[in-house]
Amino acid sequence: MNVYDGLRIAAMLEHHGLESTDNVADADIILLNTCAVRAKATDKVYSALGRIRRAKKPDAIYGIVGCVARESGADAFRKIRDLNFVLGPQSYHKLPEIIKNPDSKLLDIDLGGLEKFDELPPITKSPFVAYIPVQEGCNHCCTYCIVPFTRGREISRPYNDILAETMHAAAVGAIEICFIGQNVNGYKYTDENGKTYRLSDLIKQTAKIDSVKRIRFTSSYPTEMTDDLIELFKTESKLLPFLNMPIQSGSNNILQKMNRQYNLDEYITIINKFKIARPDIQISSDFIVGFPGETNTDFEQTVDIAKQIKYINSYSFKYSPRPHTAAAIMQNQIPENIKSERLIKLDAVLNDIQREFNLSCQDKVFDCLYEGADKTGTKQIYRTPYMQPCIVETDNPTPMARIKITSGNKSCLHGKIVD
Ligand code: 5AD
Ligand code: SF4
Repeated sequence: MNVYDGLRIAAMLEHHGLESTDNVADADIILLNTCAVRAKATDKVYSALGRIRRAKKPDAIYGIVGCVARESGADAFRKIRDLNFVLGPQSYHKLPEIIKNPDSKLLDIDLGGLEKFDELPPITKSPFVAYIPVQEGCNHCCTYCIVPFTRGREISRPYNDILAETMHAAAVGAIEICFIGQNVNGYKYTDENGKTYRLSDLIKQTAKIDSVKRIRFTSSYPTEMTDDLIELFKTESKLLPFLNMPIQSGSNNILQKMNRQYNLDEYITIINKFKIARPDIQISSDFIVGFPGETNTDFEQTVDIAKQIKYINSYSFKYSPRPHTAAAIMQNQIPENIKSERLIKLDAVLNDIQREFNLSCQDKVFDCLYEGADKTGTKQIYRTPYMQPCIVETDNPTPMARIKITSGNKSCLHGKIVD
């Protein structure tokens, strides 16, 4: 979602005649797009603003957008007096106001819902992967999570608006469509005739666009996986066989304290339904270790479920107490050193599983999507249907290629283009 917001902000500023630069000292406007999910990222914002303040031209305007802006509000101006703007994740389309009137201050952290989507200028060129938001906000109230506060309650975008944005992205270069939302599979929109559309409808319609070759979506809430969506994996070959469905913890006790609306058995039942629909499906997950009250046994259950499901790609985090959340004031907060120990242990297991899956891909042939050159500029990176980076040597990278995997390690694959 932040990547999407960043791209839209850059496109909007270009539309207003600005050019991008990597050099703070050259810039007329500088903004940080910020994340408030964990304290570490939030803590970095103010030190980064201090560095920008010292490096920038005296009359350059600067500020923050995104979730830390929403969280800090006017406080940000008290912390840094000459800051020019503080715009929440649903207000960044107002940036042009401050460009027109640089001597003013702009504060907007309202949860305006979908207004920004109507105000932003359309993109003129798309990378091969286009992120298309289908909904904003989240109605789940996981006790650790600040998102319902920073992004607000869930609102689904009108079906036709999403399809129009998808068709436009395809027309200006997108080959893969990635539908995004905090709770993407909760998408539900009822039009003026009373017809209700779900994520499966968006996928079916998108699959009809010839130039779109791959479709995926993220991030899904387990119990909102409806049968229409699961069934689609049987018939829609453009849907990648790869699903992000965070479990967060492998302990029923902790899941309940997190206010996740499922237990282990229910979660596994959903995965099994997907496997029946699409036997080659693989899953990725997010994990939080060191949630308040997490015992060694709870933690070991998380390790066990990771081994059982064999997640091929995961994001694991130490629990971070956040403002406005119930878990931050729970008893039995776990000491930092124990959280760190558990994270190291879990990561070692997750890395082994990922390496094992990557090695198992050797000799397989995948249709892959071109991403760009590697750091050295001499080799090309493609993405497999499981989103693994695959390095190939070719002088003539085509947007899609059939690639035979020759080797793999924990972080990437190597392959050869076949005809
Ligand atoms: N502490 C640590 N991780 C968190 N996440 C959300 N809130 C917190 C928190 N307070 C993680 C969850 C979520 C991912 C986006 O960030 O795993 O799925
Ligand atoms: Fe946060 Fe995701 Fe839970 Fe919503 S479902 S509250 S975004 S962790």
